[in-house]
Parts: sequence; C-alpha cells; structure tokens
Amino acid sequence: MGKDVIIACDFSSKEETLAFLDKFSGKKPYVKIGMELFYAAGPEIVREIKARGHQIFLDLKLHDIPNTVKKAMAVLSRLDVDMVNLHAAGTKAMMEAALEGVTRPDGSRPLVIAVTQLTSTSQERMQEELLIGAPMDETVMHYAANAAAAGLDGVVCSPMEAGKVHETCGKAFLTITPGIRFADGDKGDQVRVTDPAKAKEIGSDYIVVGRPITAAADPVAAYERCVNDFVD
Ligand code: C5P
Repeated sequence: MGKDVIIACDFSSKEETLAFLDKFSGKKPYVKIGMELFYAAGPEIVREIKARGHQIFLDLKLHDIPNTVKKAMAVLSRLDVDMVNLHAAGTKAMMEAALEGVTRPDGSRPLVIAVTQLTSTSQERMQEELLIGAPMDETVMHYAANAAAAGLDGVVCSPMEAGKVHETCGKAFLTITPGIRFADGDKGDQVRVTDPAKAKEIGSDYIVVGRPITAAADPVAAYERCVNDFVD
C-alpha cells in the first residue's frame, strides 16, 4: 500500500464533480467523497466515479449505536469503495461492529479509518463542552489506540500527529492527513497546516487535499505538484 494523494471533491452536484474529474484526462486520482456530495448526489455518484476507475474514500464519519453502524456499513460495502470512516468516539464495540458489517461475503473489505478528535475542536472546547479533561494529543493517541485495538486500519489526524500515531500504534497503522497547503498558498479556514513535502517527512500515509487543488487555476498541475512532493 503506497503513499497517495486523495483529492477532497467537496462539490454540491454530480455535474460539477464530473466536470472537475474530466480535467484529469487519462489520470485517475484517488477521490474523497464527503457528506456534501453524497447527500446531494447519492450512491449513484459513487458508482459513477468508481466505474471511471478511481479509488474512493467515502468520508461519511459514521457514529451511532453498534447495530445501526454495522447495518449501514454493510450497505456501504456494496458500493465497492476503497476506504470508509467512522468516529472513534462511538467506542470499540461500535468500531468492531462496523468492521463486521463492512466485510463482504468474500471476506474483502474497504480500509476502515477512525476520526479521533476533529481538527475543528480546540482543547478548550473539548474540555469545557465534552468534559474530556486529558490534553488533546493524549486524547487523540488514546482514540487511535482504541481504533487499533478494535482492528481498524488507521486514523484521520493532523499531519503533526502522524509521527506520534505511528509510534503509538505501529508503522503499519495508517495516517490519513488533511490540513495540507502549499507553502506559498492560502490557508483558508485551516489552522494547523503542513505542505506535502513536510507531511511526507513526518510520515503521513495519505494526504487529503481539497481547495489547494479544486480551487487552483490549474487543478491538474496542482495535483501533480502534490504527487511530486509527497509520493515521488
Ligand atoms: O479544502 P481542504 O484542503 O481544507 O479540504 C480538506 C478536506 O478534509 C475537507 O473535505 C474536510 O472536510 C476534510 N477534513 C479536514 N479535517 C479533518 C477531517 C476531515 O479538513 N479533521
């Protein structure tokens, strides 16, 4: 399993998404489909992008009682995606149920990745609103360890945390890291950002890149720049 660049296709319609992917004539970048696009365009957009030959990370961040997550994952497994995710806060029982649900009758399954603490949650909010008293990095590592113990394949985390996650859960435990910006680019609403070369150095396995590619004047060139800096 090599390192790869995943493009966050945060679009609100099928047309916009396919027009964007058409620009990559011949190339088949790994694509992330999140809640916005999935709720707008439904399972059909997943089938269409898959049929075009892309690998897909379906980023729906499931979090419910174990039985509900298990059944939802069983439905998602039929879409033949390559990666799905859930919230580690749902507990180990929920993560184990998810793995059971997502495993296809032939034993194959997509990679299952846990969200630890969302990068939009500050330590202060986590302590005051969620009543989690431990420091942020300790909480993230604890959730990552729970995900590993439940048999999951990795976590979504900040690139800054990728090295420590590997130390805690092993080198084979995957780190999927958003919050990527070119050193000379606009940060937008992301705060703790890293450029692709630095993410490679810290040890991210996959970088998730949205606006630096989707909003670029030349998205294909921006994607290639990410691949050159992160993969090659
Ligand atoms: O446009 P940008 O590069 O900021 O997009 C990052 C993508 O990664 C978005 O789809 C966002 O929802 C997702 N993401 C994130 N931080 C997390 C989890 C997911 O930015 N902790």
